Amino acid sequence: MSDGLEDVVAADTVLSEVDGQAGRLIIRGRSLDELAGRTTYEQVTHLLWDGFFDNLPADLAPALAAARVEVFAEVSALDTGLLDRTPIEGMRALTARLADGDDLKVALRLVAAPAVFTAAVVRAQAGEAPVKPDLALSHAADTLRMLRGKPATHAEVEALDTYLVTVSDHGLNASTFAARVIASTRAGLTSAVLGGISALKGPLHGGAPGPIIDMLDAIGQPENARAWIEEALDRGDRLMGFGHRVYRVRDPRADALKAAVRKLTEGSNAMPGRLAFAEAVENAALAILKERKPERSLQTNVEFYTALLLEALAYPPSAFTCVFATGRVSGWIAHAREQLAGGRLIRPQSRYVGPMPRRAA
Ligand code: ACO
Repeated sequence: MSDGLEDVVAADTVLSEVDGQAGRLIIRGRSLDELAGRTTYEQVTHLLWDGFFDNLPADLAPALAAARVEVFAEVSALDTGLLDRTPIEGMRALTARLADGDDLKVALRLVAAPAVFTAAVVRAQAGEAPVKPDLALSHAADTLRMLRGKPATHAEVEALDTYLVTVSDHGLNASTFAARVIASTRAGLTSAVLGGISALKGPLHGGAPGPIIDMLDAIGQPENARAWIEEALDRGDRLMGFGHRVYRVRDPRADALKAAVRKLTEGSNAMPGRLAFAEAVENAALAILKERKPERSLQTNVEFYTALLLEALAYPPSAFTCVFATGRVSGWIAHAREQLAGGRLIRPQSRYVGPMPRRAA
């Protein structure tokens, strides 16, 4: 047995490969460089789902827009009880209202759900009415418009598309594994996606980027970085946005997202100096992690520049994990379909290390 199942291969997949030594991510035969910033979220969803659904339309945009309109009906179930929860708990609760099933219609509604419900929850928490989806817009454009109540710029839509594509799939990460286990019981795609959302929200997985903003805000100035980081590590804290189970070199998604932040913020008045400050904190963190853990290569992961990008797109940090789910949902569904096609129930063994019953005297 390997602690945390490290290095255990638990599935064959045609969907994505994470090469932790080379720092390379391949999604269905394409490198991340070929996809990020060059494809829309609808296109990467098509790439992931190709061969896993009958009658998959060549252009998913109209069907996905229609699915956004369909799931919007559930927003009326957003009550004050849910508004007291974190956005991911509110979004998950609304997603749980969707019917289970395994067909394309269910799948498209599940892709629509995090975008529509996150916008509605964030707006309701700010005392604002939900904004209906727009059939004419791309998924990224409508995701931002529903959040803000006004259209996003072309550059912002492009940046969100880059993010959603970058995080759409990533091998057998914890949330994808959870989704595959659930799919293997034939519980249905909604159940698999709810399992994926639940696994994603933990701080060791998709819950890291919100606290990264807290860390940057607490550090405040580049010259405070070393002392702040040393203190955090002395307390036994982990630095959010660093380290990875598979990557022993820099996570290629970190660079894709850093480039997207640069493109979005350069030449605009948005967050002047923020990227340079984040880079200074990143460099300090990497140097200190190297000093303290020379035996384990701890590098920047996807979450560090996710935080910067979603901040530049004016998402509240409390909703960052919801945006991650908005991108990863297509990957969870593709893995669930692949698991179902393979057909076997995932049911490993555990080794009993507890006491044995006492013999009768
Ligand atoms: N900060 C400080 N120390 C760290 C960090 C970190 N970010 N990451 C790992 N370490 C330390 C561990 O404490 C451990 O030390 P020990 O041997 O003294 O116990 C050592 O490095 C090895 O780490 P592991 O626990 O083996 O790493 P693991 O593969 O289990 O964890 C993980 C990977 C969860 C991502 C970890 O690096 C971490 O907690 N990072 C911070 C949270 C984070 O950024 N999460 C997002 C990950 S990306 C994603 O899921 C989308």
